[in-house]
Amino acid sequence: MAITRTLSIIKPDATRRNLTGQVTKMLEDAGLRVVASKRIRMTREQAEGFYAVHRERPFFHDLVAFMTSGPVVVQVLEGEDAVATNRRVMGATNPAEAAPGTIRRELAESIEANTVHGSDSDANAAIEIAFFFRPEEIVG
Ligand code: CMP
Repeated sequence: MAITRTLSIIKPDATRRNLTGQVTKMLEDAGLRVVASKRIRMTREQAEGFYAVHRERPFFHDLVAFMTSGPVVVQVLEGEDAVATNRRVMGATNPAEAAPGTIRRELAESIEANTVHGSDSDANAAIEIAFFFRPEEIVG
């Protein structure tokens, strides 16, 4: 397996509960390395742009409101097959369906306030990383 990168977002439900370190430790324990990280408050325009693929979904408006409700920590993670490794440690979107030991099962509040986002493919990872980071901000 190749060393690849993925985008992670630690969501407002986690920053509000001061879980940034705990989430990052679970990512690192899964073999991922944080090669870029910044804490930001997403604007409505950023959230709408980032989640544009979900624009027609019934939950889109609430999702944008939630993602702009507090600080998030955007991170670039690097490791063996980073997209799949990250998705494994995050667990299913709905915490009720996530496997024991995963971030969402152990920490998430609901399907919306589900603690972390992770890219779903290498192609989307490249797009999502470029959405938040300039190349020189990523130090592997
Ligand atoms: P994320 O991986 O960030 O990608 C899209 C987000 O939309 C998802 O995590 C959830 O936070 C949210 N989401 C997905 N499905 C639902 C749903 N059925 N109801 C509310 N929010 C959802």
